[in-house]
Amino acid sequence: MIDIAGLVRPDLQKLVGYTPIVPLDVLSRRLGIPVERLVKLDANENPYGPSPRVLEALAHEQPYAIYPDPDQTVLRAALSEYTGQPVERLICGNGSDELIDLLMRLCLSPGDAVVESPPTFGMYSFNTAVVGGRSIGVPRHADWTLDVDALIAAVEREQAKLVFLPSPNNPDGSVVERSDIMRLLALPALLVIDEAYAEFAGVSVIDLVGQHPNLVVLRTFSKWAGLAGLRLGYGAMDERIVRYLLQIKPPYNINVAAQAAVLASLADRSSLMDKVALLIAERERLYAALCERPACKPLPSRANFVLFHLGPQAGAIKRALEQEGVLVRYYSKPGLNEYLRVTVGTPEQNLRFLDALDASLLDIQHEEMRHELA
Ligand SMILES: Cc1ncc(COP(=O)(O)O)c(C=O)c1O
Repeated sequence: MIDIAGLVRPDLQKLVGYTPIVPLDVLSRRLGIPVERLVKLDANENPYGPSPRVLEALAHEQPYAIYPDPDQTVLRAALSEYTGQPVERLICGNGSDELIDLLMRLCLSPGDAVVESPPTFGMYSFNTAVVGGRSIGVPRHADWTLDVDALIAAVEREQAKLVFLPSPNNPDGSVVERSDIMRLLALPALLVIDEAYAEFAGVSVIDLVGQHPNLVVLRTFSKWAGLAGLRLGYGAMDERIVRYLLQIKPPYNINVAAQAAVLASLADRSSLMDKVALLIAERERLYAALCERPACKPLPSRANFVLFHLGPQAGAIKRALEQEGVLVRYYSKPGLNEYLRVTVGTPEQNLRFLDALDASLLDIQHEEMRHELA
C-alpha cells in the first residue's frame, strides 16, 4: 500500500486550511431555508451583482473553445486605461488571491518571513504557510491603527521579504495612512498594499507605483464590480516583477468569460460606480443604526462591510442570525471572537439583518434574565 501522507511535504500535513464561506445551496439545505430567503452578508460580495452588460457579453459568442491569451494583452490594455498605469506594470490573476500566492511563490524560500498586521485578511498567513514561509504578525494598536514602528522593527529583525497590508483592512475597514506607506517603502522589502475595496474607500496609492519599485498594489473586480464568482484580480507593480510573475504564473490563468466580463464592466463603470455610491450611503446608515444599539460598538469603515463589537455572545448571535437566514462573518480567533462583520447589502437586506439582530439580542437578554431569576 502506498503511503500517501509520506508523499506530502511534512509541514503541509499539519496545515490548517483557510476557512472559506459555506456555499449558499449547502447552507440552504442545512438550515431548511430556500436560497432566495437567505441574506448573504458574510463575504463582502456585491448585492447588486454584475453589470447587465456583463450578462449580455457572456451570452454573446465568445471564443470559449479557445485557450485565453497568456499575456492578457487586451485586459492589461483596458486596465491601463482604467488605472493610468502603463501596461508593462500590470498583471491579472485568478482573483487577487492568485496574485498573493504568486508573489509569495516568486519571493519566498522555505523559512523566509512575511510580515502582516492582524487582525487582517486570512489569506496572507495561509499562503505563507503553503509555501513554507514564516508568518510574522505585528498586532494593531487597540484602536486598530497600524503599529508602524513595530512593523519596521519586525521587517528588519526578521529580514522579511514581503509585507502585506490591506487598505481598507479586512475585517475593520480602516485605510492605511499614505505617510505610513511612505515610511514602510523605505524598507528593503516588497510592500503589498491590497486595495480590494479601494473603489469604496475612494483612496489609493496606485499612483506611487512608478516611483517605488518595491510597491505592489493589488485590486479586484470581486467587490465593486460584482464579479467574485468569475475571479479577476490585478496588480500594479514594477515591470521587472510583472515579467517574473508572467514567467511563473499558470499560462491560462484568466479564462475567456472573466476577460469578457471585465471588459464589459469597464465599459459600464459609471453605472457600477452608482451602485458603489448606494452601498457607501447604506454603509453609513448601517453604521449609524449599529451605533444606536447599546450592545453594539461598530468601527467606522471605508469598505463595503462594518465590523462591530458585541462581547462574548458574538458567536451565539451569529448562529441565531443564521437560523433566521441572515449570514454574517464570525471569527473564532482571539482578538476577533467578540466581533461580527456584516457586509453592506441592499436597503432591504440591511433591514432584515437589523431586525434579526434585534430579535437575537432580545432573546439573549431574556435568557440572561431567566438565569438571574432562577
Ligand atoms: C483584503 C482582501 N484581499 C483580497 C481578497 C480576495 O479578492 P479576490 O476575490 O480578488 O481573490 C479579499 C476578499 O475578501 C479581501 O478581503
